Amino acid sequence: MIKYIVVVILILQLNSFALAHLCLFNPPQREPFWGVPISPGDNACYKTNSNCGNTTAGAPVQSYKAGSTIEVFFQQNYNHWYQPNPGFLDVSISYNGDDGEYTQLVPTIDDFNAWDMVTQTNYSLSVPLPTQTCKSCVLRVRYISNNAGEPEPDFYQCSDIAIQE
Ligand SMILES: *[C@@H]1O[C@H](CO)[C@@H](O)[C@H](O)[C@H]1NC(C)=O
Ligand SMILES: *[C@@H]1O[C@H](CO)[C@@H](O)[C@H](O)[C@H]1NC(C)=O
Repeated sequence: MIKYIVVVILILQLNSFALAHLCLFNPPQREPFWGVPISPGDNACYKTNSNCGNTTAGAPVQSYKAGSTIEVFFQQNYNHWYQPNPGFLDVSISYNGDDGEYTQLVPTIDDFNAWDMVTQTNYSLSVPLPTQTCKSCVLRVRYISNNAGEPEPDFYQCSDIAIQE
């Protein structure tokens, strides 16, 4: 009986670590190894450190024309709406690395009450790129939930892109 209880507690803890929250489909995020179909709680969508979730930059996965408008497609993979201090999602770019200075590219998207935490919500945004070129820069999507009930309330996904003349 005691062994059985220990196993149940372990499973509950594993589940709570696996809760996941933001996935970036286009341009593809770093380490995009999610299940098919993507479930709410997929580990690939759970990156909580502000430096692109501690991922390592790779070669650019997409090259875009400077000043063009691109489609950025992502998913709120888990809804952490927090009524006392509602959060937001945003899309921004850094020309100087994961910890660099980010410039927001589109207006902030307000978080919303999905009523059910496991709700998955896709966003497809038209995002104007800057005219400044780069061999490799960081396109970042964030979900800042502000949810005081969460051990890790903020989620980050990054994609390495190039911008050419
Ligand atoms: C992220 O990196 C920091 C600094 O290297 C480290 O302290 C932290 O444990 C890492 N977090 C994860 C989730 O890997
Ligand atoms: C959201 O996007 C994912 C990934 O492309 C897709 O599998 C899913 O069907 C989409 N959901 C809706 C409601 O369109």
